[in-house]
Amino acid sequence: MTVVLKGNWNYPTRIWAGPGRIAELPAACADLGIRRSLIVTDAGLRDSAMVARARELLHGAPVFGDVKGNPVAANVEAGLAAYRAGKHDGVVALGGGSALDAGKVIAFMSGQTRPMWDFEDIGDWWTRADPAGIAPVVAIPTTAGTGSEVGRAGVILNEETHQKKIIFHPKMMPGVVISDPELTVGLPPKITAATGIDAFVHCFEAYCAPGFHPLADGMALEGMRLIQAYLPRAYDDGADIEARSRMLAAASMGAAAFQKGLGGVHAIAHPVGSFFDTHHGLTNAVILPYVMVHNREAIADRMQVVARLLDLPKPGFDGVLDWVLKFRERLGIPHTLAEIGVTLANPEVIGREAAVDPSAGGNPIPVDAPTLERIFRSAVRGDLQLRG
Ligand SMILES: [Fe+2]
Repeated sequence: MTVVLKGNWNYPTRIWAGPGRIAELPAACADLGIRRSLIVTDAGLRDSAMVARARELLHGAPVFGDVKGNPVAANVEAGLAAYRAGKHDGVVALGGGSALDAGKVIAFMSGQTRPMWDFEDIGDWWTRADPAGIAPVVAIPTTAGTGSEVGRAGVILNEETHQKKIIFHPKMMPGVVISDPELTVGLPPKITAATGIDAFVHCFEAYCAPGFHPLADGMALEGMRLIQAYLPRAYDDGADIEARSRMLAAASMGAAAFQKGLGGVHAIAHPVGSFFDTHHGLTNAVILPYVMVHNREAIADRMQVVARLLDLPKPGFDGVLDWVLKFRERLGIPHTLAEIGVTLANPEVIGREAAVDPSAGGNPIPVDAPTLERIFRSAVRGDLQLRG
Protein backbone atom coordinates (compact mmCIF):
# COMPACT_ATOMS: atom_id res chain seq x y z
CA MET A 1 0.00 0.00 0.00
CA THR A 2 1.32 3.41 -0.89
CA VAL A 3 1.66 5.79 2.01
CA VAL A 4 0.27 9.22 1.30
CA LEU A 5 2.84 11.62 2.71
CA LYS A 6 0.59 14.61 2.93
CA GLY A 7 -0.63 16.46 5.98
CA ASN A 8 -1.49 19.79 7.55
CA TRP A 9 0.17 20.28 10.92
CA ASN A 10 -0.38 23.10 13.37
CA TYR A 11 2.74 23.02 15.49
CA PRO A 12 5.15 24.65 15.87
CA THR A 13 3.36 26.61 13.14
CA ARG A 14 1.06 25.83 10.26
CA ILE A 15 2.86 23.39 7.97
CA TRP A 16 1.39 22.22 4.70
CA ALA A 17 3.37 19.11 3.88
CA GLY A 18 3.27 17.03 0.75
CA PRO A 19 4.38 16.76 -2.86
CA GLY A 20 3.07 19.46 -5.18
CA ARG A 21 1.84 21.75 -2.43
CA ILE A 22 3.73 24.73 -3.85
CA ALA A 23 0.54 25.12 -5.90
CA GLU A 24 -1.13 26.31 -2.69
CA LEU A 25 1.20 29.31 -2.38
CA PRO A 26 -1.55 31.80 -3.35
CA ALA A 27 -3.81 30.34 -0.64
CA ALA A 28 -1.00 30.63 1.92
CA CYS A 29 -0.50 34.31 1.08
CA ALA A 30 -4.26 34.94 1.18
CA ASP A 31 -4.51 33.25 4.58
CA LEU A 32 -1.89 35.62 5.97
CA GLY A 33 -3.47 38.67 4.33
CA ILE A 34 -0.53 39.15 1.94
CA ARG A 35 -1.56 40.90 -1.25
CA ARG A 36 1.75 42.27 -2.47
CA SER A 37 4.41 39.74 -1.65
CA LEU A 38 8.14 40.07 -2.12
CA ILE A 39 9.83 36.76 -2.92
CA VAL A 40 13.16 36.54 -1.10
CA THR A 41 15.63 33.94 -2.29
CA ASP A 42 19.36 33.48 -2.75
CA ALA A 43 21.50 34.26 -5.77
CA GLY A 44 21.75 30.60 -6.75
CA LEU A 45 17.99 30.15 -6.99
CA ARG A 46 17.02 33.56 -8.38
CA ASP A 47 16.81 32.31 -11.96
CA SER A 48 15.60 28.79 -11.12
CA ALA A 49 12.45 27.13 -12.38
CA MET A 50 10.99 26.96 -8.86
CA VAL A 51 11.31 30.70 -8.33
CA ALA A 52 9.76 31.22 -11.77
CA ARG A 53 6.90 28.94 -10.68
CA ALA A 54 6.41 30.88 -7.44
CA ARG A 55 6.33 34.15 -9.39
CA GLU A 56 3.82 32.73 -11.83
CA LEU A 57 1.59 31.54 -8.97
CA LEU A 58 1.75 35.03 -7.45
CA HIS A 59 1.01 36.84 -10.72
CA GLY A 60 4.54 38.07 -11.29
CA ALA A 61 5.52 39.03 -7.75
CA PRO A 62 8.99 40.63 -7.72
CA VAL A 63 12.03 38.72 -6.56
CA PHE A 64 14.81 39.88 -4.28
CA GLY A 65 17.63 37.42 -4.86
CA ASP A 66 20.72 39.04 -3.40
CA VAL A 67 21.18 36.81 -0.38
CA LYS A 68 24.62 35.32 0.21
CA GLY A 69 25.30 31.82 1.52
CA ASN A 70 26.02 33.32 4.94
CA PRO A 71 23.66 36.33 4.76
CA VAL A 72 25.17 39.67 5.76
CA ALA A 73 23.57 42.87 7.05
CA ALA A 74 23.92 44.48 3.63
CA ASN A 75 21.69 41.75 2.17
CA VAL A 76 18.99 42.60 4.69
CA GLU A 77 19.39 46.32 3.99
CA ALA A 78 19.06 45.79 0.24
CA GLY A 79 16.05 43.52 0.75
CA LEU A 80 14.41 46.09 2.99
CA ALA A 81 14.95 48.77 0.37
CA ALA A 82 13.28 46.56 -2.24
CA TYR A 83 10.45 45.72 0.16
CA ARG A 84 9.72 49.36 0.94
CA ALA A 85 10.13 50.55 -2.65
CA GLY A 86 7.59 47.96 -3.79
CA LYS A 87 5.19 48.74 -0.91
CA HIS A 88 5.03 45.06 -0.06
CA ASP A 89 2.94 43.64 2.75
CA GLY A 90 4.58 40.28 3.28
CA VAL A 91 7.47 38.02 2.34
CA VAL A 92 7.61 34.68 0.58
CA ALA A 93 10.97 33.29 1.69
CA LEU A 94 12.07 30.50 -0.63
CA GLY A 95 15.34 28.60 -0.43
CA GLY A 96 17.78 27.13 2.03
CA GLY A 97 18.52 28.50 5.48
CA SER A 98 20.18 31.64 4.16
CA ALA A 99 17.20 32.78 2.10
CA LEU A 100 14.72 31.82 4.82
CA ASP A 101 16.69 33.64 7.53
CA ALA A 102 17.15 36.74 5.39
CA GLY A 103 13.48 36.74 4.32
CA LYS A 104 12.31 36.44 7.93
CA VAL A 105 14.59 39.24 9.10
CA ILE A 106 13.48 41.50 6.23
CA ALA A 107 9.83 40.93 7.17
CA PHE A 108 10.64 41.51 10.83
CA MET A 109 12.58 44.72 10.16
CA SER A 110 10.05 46.10 7.67
CA GLY A 111 8.15 48.04 10.33
CA GLN A 112 10.88 48.68 12.92
CA THR A 113 12.53 52.01 13.61
CA ARG A 114 15.58 50.78 15.52
CA PRO A 115 18.66 49.29 13.83
CA MET A 116 18.78 45.54 13.31
CA TRP A 117 21.58 44.80 15.79
CA ASP A 118 19.33 46.17 18.57
CA PHE A 119 17.31 42.97 18.21
CA GLU A 120 20.10 40.49 18.78
CA ASP A 121 19.06 37.48 20.84
CA ILE A 122 20.33 38.80 24.16
CA GLY A 123 18.15 38.85 27.26
CA ASP A 124 14.84 40.52 26.48
CA TRP A 125 16.12 42.69 23.63
CA TRP A 126 13.32 41.30 21.45
CA THR A 127 10.84 43.33 23.52
CA ARG A 128 12.35 46.45 21.91
CA ALA A 129 10.57 45.52 18.68
CA ASP A 130 7.18 46.80 17.63
CA PRO A 131 5.16 43.61 17.00
CA ALA A 132 2.77 45.54 14.76
CA GLY A 133 5.71 46.25 12.46
CA ILE A 134 6.43 42.58 11.72
CA ALA A 135 5.21 41.51 8.29
CA PRO A 136 3.88 37.98 7.69
CA VAL A 137 6.05 35.31 6.08
CA VAL A 138 5.34 32.22 4.01
CA ALA A 139 8.40 29.98 4.24
CA ILE A 140 9.23 27.46 1.53
CA PRO A 141 12.30 25.37 2.30
CA THR A 142 14.25 23.94 -0.64
CA THR A 143 16.75 22.07 1.51
CA ALA A 144 16.08 19.70 4.40
CA GLY A 145 18.45 20.82 7.10
CA THR A 146 18.29 24.24 8.66
CA GLY A 147 14.67 24.04 9.78
CA SER A 148 14.61 27.84 9.64
CA GLU A 149 11.05 27.54 8.33
CA VAL A 150 9.91 26.73 11.86
CA GLY A 151 12.37 28.98 13.70
CA ARG A 152 11.83 32.32 15.37
CA ALA A 153 15.20 33.77 14.51
CA GLY A 154 17.49 34.63 11.63
CA VAL A 155 21.27 34.36 11.67
CA ILE A 156 22.94 37.36 10.07
CA LEU A 157 26.68 37.87 9.70
CA ASN A 158 28.12 41.12 11.00
CA GLU A 159 30.92 41.61 8.49
CA GLU A 160 32.70 44.19 10.61
CA THR A 161 33.11 41.92 13.61
CA HIS A 162 33.00 38.55 11.78
CA GLN A 163 30.29 37.48 14.19
CA LYS A 164 27.14 35.61 13.32
CA LYS A 165 24.37 37.33 15.23
CA ILE A 166 20.99 35.84 15.97
CA ILE A 167 18.11 38.23 15.40
CA PHE A 168 15.19 36.91 17.43
CA HIS A 169 11.55 37.65 17.98
CA PRO A 170 8.79 35.16 18.86
CA LYS A 171 6.65 36.60 16.06
CA MET A 172 9.34 35.93 13.47
CA MET A 173 7.90 32.42 13.13
CA PRO A 174 6.55 32.03 9.57
CA GLY A 175 2.74 32.00 9.45
CA VAL A 176 2.57 29.18 6.91
CA VAL A 177 5.25 26.72 5.81
CA ILE A 178 4.93 24.95 2.50
CA SER A 179 6.93 21.77 2.93
CA ASP A 180 6.98 20.39 -0.61
CA PRO A 181 9.50 17.57 -1.16
CA GLU A 182 9.44 18.08 -4.92
CA LEU A 183 11.32 21.34 -4.39
CA THR A 184 14.24 19.47 -2.84
CA VAL A 185 14.58 16.87 -5.61
CA GLY A 186 17.18 18.87 -7.53
CA LEU A 187 19.44 19.31 -4.53
CA PRO A 188 22.86 17.79 -5.37
CA PRO A 189 24.01 14.86 -3.19
CA LYS A 190 26.71 16.92 -1.46
CA ILE A 191 24.23 19.58 -0.31
CA THR A 192 21.68 16.90 0.55
CA ALA A 193 24.27 15.30 2.84
CA ALA A 194 25.56 18.51 4.42
CA THR A 195 22.12 19.95 5.13
CA GLY A 196 20.77 16.58 6.27
CA ILE A 197 23.55 16.17 8.81
CA ASP A 198 22.92 19.72 10.02
CA ALA A 199 19.39 18.55 10.83
CA PHE A 200 20.86 15.53 12.60
CA VAL A 201 23.15 17.78 14.67
CA HIS A 202 20.15 19.93 15.62
CA CYS A 203 18.38 16.84 16.94
CA PHE A 204 21.52 15.49 18.58
CA GLU A 205 22.56 18.69 20.33
CA ALA A 206 18.99 19.46 21.40
CA TYR A 207 18.61 15.99 22.88
CA CYS A 208 21.92 16.32 24.77
CA ALA A 209 21.28 19.88 25.97
CA PRO A 210 20.56 20.09 29.69
CA GLY A 211 17.14 21.08 30.93
CA PHE A 212 13.64 19.68 31.27
CA HIS A 213 12.03 19.61 27.85
CA PRO A 214 10.48 16.23 27.02
CA LEU A 215 8.60 17.69 24.03
CA ALA A 216 11.86 18.73 22.40
CA ASP A 217 13.52 15.43 23.37
CA GLY A 218 10.74 13.47 21.69
CA MET A 219 11.02 15.39 18.46
CA ALA A 220 14.80 15.20 18.53
CA LEU A 221 14.80 11.41 18.90
CA GLU A 222 12.33 10.78 16.10
CA GLY A 223 14.22 13.28 13.94
CA MET A 224 17.44 11.28 14.41
CA ARG A 225 15.66 8.05 13.52
CA LEU A 226 14.23 9.53 10.33
CA ILE A 227 17.59 10.94 9.26
CA GLN A 228 19.35 7.63 9.87
CA ALA A 229 16.78 5.88 7.69
CA TYR A 230 16.16 8.40 4.93
CA LEU A 231 19.21 10.64 4.46
CA PRO A 232 21.23 7.92 2.71
CA ARG A 233 18.26 7.24 0.42
CA ALA A 234 17.87 10.93 -0.47
CA TYR A 235 21.64 11.13 -1.01
CA ASP A 236 21.69 8.13 -3.34
CA ASP A 237 18.54 9.02 -5.26
CA GLY A 238 17.55 12.67 -5.14
CA ALA A 239 14.18 11.86 -6.71
CA ASP A 240 13.14 9.53 -3.87
CA ILE A 241 10.06 11.49 -2.81
CA GLU A 242 9.41 9.42 0.28
CA ALA A 243 12.96 10.05 1.54
CA ARG A 244 12.74 13.72 0.63
CA SER A 245 9.37 14.05 2.43
CA ARG A 246 10.62 12.48 5.61
CA MET A 247 13.86 14.48 5.54
CA LEU A 248 11.91 17.73 5.27
CA ALA A 249 9.88 16.71 8.29
CA ALA A 250 13.04 15.71 10.20
CA ALA A 251 14.62 19.08 9.45
CA SER A 252 11.61 20.93 10.85
CA MET A 253 11.66 18.63 13.88
CA GLY A 254 15.33 19.39 14.53
CA ALA A 255 14.72 23.12 14.51
CA ALA A 256 11.62 22.83 16.67
CA ALA A 257 13.63 20.70 19.11
CA PHE A 258 16.53 23.11 19.39
CA GLN A 259 14.40 25.67 21.14
CA LYS A 260 15.74 23.58 24.04
CA GLY A 261 19.31 24.50 23.15
CA LEU A 262 22.19 23.50 20.88
CA GLY A 263 25.77 22.94 21.99
CA GLY A 264 29.46 22.94 21.22
CA VAL A 265 29.12 21.82 17.60
CA HIS A 266 27.12 24.88 16.60
CA ALA A 267 29.13 27.14 18.91
CA ILE A 268 32.32 26.27 17.00
CA ALA A 269 30.67 26.05 13.57
CA HIS A 270 29.34 29.60 13.75
CA PRO A 271 32.71 31.41 14.02
CA VAL A 272 34.30 28.91 11.61
CA GLY A 273 31.59 29.81 9.09
CA SER A 274 32.07 33.52 9.74
CA PHE A 275 35.84 33.47 9.24
CA PHE A 276 36.21 30.82 6.54
CA ASP A 277 32.84 31.15 4.78
CA THR A 278 32.33 27.40 5.02
CA HIS A 279 28.93 25.75 4.50
CA HIS A 280 27.09 25.66 7.83
CA GLY A 281 25.81 22.10 7.59
CA LEU A 282 29.09 20.72 6.30
CA THR A 283 30.99 22.47 9.11
CA ASN A 284 28.70 20.93 11.72
CA ALA A 285 28.97 17.54 10.08
CA VAL A 286 32.75 17.60 10.36
CA ILE A 287 32.84 18.92 13.94
CA LEU A 288 30.19 16.63 15.48
CA PRO A 289 32.38 13.68 16.57
CA TYR A 290 35.05 15.93 18.12
CA VAL A 291 32.48 17.58 20.38
CA MET A 292 30.89 14.19 21.13
CA VAL A 293 34.23 12.89 22.41
CA HIS A 294 34.64 15.93 24.63
CA ASN A 295 31.13 15.46 26.06
CA ARG A 296 31.46 11.68 26.42
CA GLU A 297 30.84 11.33 30.17
CA ALA A 298 28.04 13.88 30.31
CA ILE A 299 26.02 12.22 27.54
CA ALA A 300 26.66 8.56 28.40
CA ASP A 301 23.07 7.86 29.55
CA ARG A 302 21.52 9.61 26.60
CA MET A 303 23.73 7.72 24.19
CA GLN A 304 22.31 4.47 25.58
CA VAL A 305 18.89 5.65 24.40
CA VAL A 306 20.15 6.84 21.02
CA ALA A 307 22.03 3.58 20.39
CA ARG A 308 18.87 1.59 21.14
CA LEU A 309 16.68 3.83 19.05
CA LEU A 310 19.01 3.64 16.06
CA ASP A 311 19.34 -0.13 16.61
CA LEU A 312 23.14 0.05 16.54
CA PRO A 313 25.30 -3.07 16.84
CA LYS A 314 27.29 -1.59 19.74
CA PRO A 315 25.53 0.01 22.75
CA GLY A 316 26.03 3.41 24.30
CA PHE A 317 28.42 6.19 23.43
CA ASP A 318 30.91 4.05 21.51
CA GLY A 319 28.14 2.60 19.39
CA VAL A 320 26.83 6.05 18.49
CA LEU A 321 30.31 7.46 17.81
CA ASP A 322 31.18 4.52 15.53
CA TRP A 323 27.91 4.97 13.69
CA VAL A 324 28.34 8.76 13.31
CA LEU A 325 31.80 8.23 11.79
CA LYS A 326 30.50 5.60 9.35
CA PHE A 327 27.41 7.65 8.51
CA ARG A 328 29.55 10.69 7.72
CA GLU A 329 31.85 8.63 5.52
CA ARG A 330 28.92 7.03 3.72
CA LEU A 331 27.68 10.53 2.87
CA GLY A 332 31.05 11.78 1.64
CA ILE A 333 31.67 14.15 4.55
CA PRO A 334 35.38 14.79 5.21
CA HIS A 335 36.90 13.96 8.59
CA THR A 336 38.83 17.20 9.14
CA LEU A 337 38.09 20.89 8.92
CA ALA A 338 41.37 21.25 7.01
CA GLU A 339 39.74 19.39 4.12
CA ILE A 340 37.09 22.09 3.80
CA GLY A 341 39.62 24.92 3.77
CA VAL A 342 39.82 25.77 7.47
CA THR A 343 43.26 26.61 8.84
CA LEU A 344 44.79 27.14 12.26
CA ALA A 345 45.52 30.78 11.45
CA ASN A 346 43.53 32.17 14.38
CA PRO A 347 42.49 29.35 16.70
CA GLU A 348 42.26 31.55 19.81
CA VAL A 349 39.80 33.83 18.03
CA ILE A 350 37.63 30.84 17.07
CA GLY A 351 37.74 29.62 20.69
CA ARG A 352 36.85 33.02 22.04
CA GLU A 353 33.99 33.58 19.60
CA ALA A 354 32.67 30.05 20.12
CA ALA A 355 32.57 30.66 23.87
CA VAL A 356 30.35 33.72 23.47
CA ASP A 357 28.12 32.09 20.84
CA PRO A 358 24.63 31.54 22.31
CA SER A 359 24.80 27.85 21.33
CA ALA A 360 27.66 27.24 23.77
CA GLY A 361 25.29 27.54 26.73
CA GLY A 362 23.41 24.41 25.57
CA ASN A 363 26.45 22.16 25.71
CA PRO A 364 25.87 19.34 28.23
CA ILE A 365 28.97 20.40 30.15
CA PRO A 366 30.15 24.00 30.48
CA VAL A 367 32.70 24.93 27.81
CA ASP A 368 35.06 27.90 27.90
CA ALA A 369 37.20 29.52 25.22
CA PRO A 370 40.35 27.41 25.78
CA THR A 371 38.28 24.19 25.69
CA LEU A 372 36.47 25.16 22.50
CA GLU A 373 39.78 26.20 20.95
CA ARG A 374 41.19 22.76 21.79
CA ILE A 375 38.23 21.01 20.20
CA PHE A 376 38.53 23.26 17.15
CA ARG A 377 42.21 22.45 16.80
CA SER A 378 41.49 18.73 16.99
CA ALA A 379 38.78 19.07 14.30
CA VAL A 380 41.16 20.92 11.96
CA ARG A 381 43.82 18.25 12.39
CA GLY A 382 41.54 15.25 12.57
CA ASP A 383 42.76 14.19 16.00
CA LEU A 384 39.75 12.49 17.55
CA GLN A 385 41.74 11.20 20.51
CA LEU A 386 42.47 14.67 21.83
CA ARG A 387 40.21 15.18 24.82
CA GLY A 388 39.17 18.50 26.27
FE1 LIG B 1 22.51 24.24 12.21
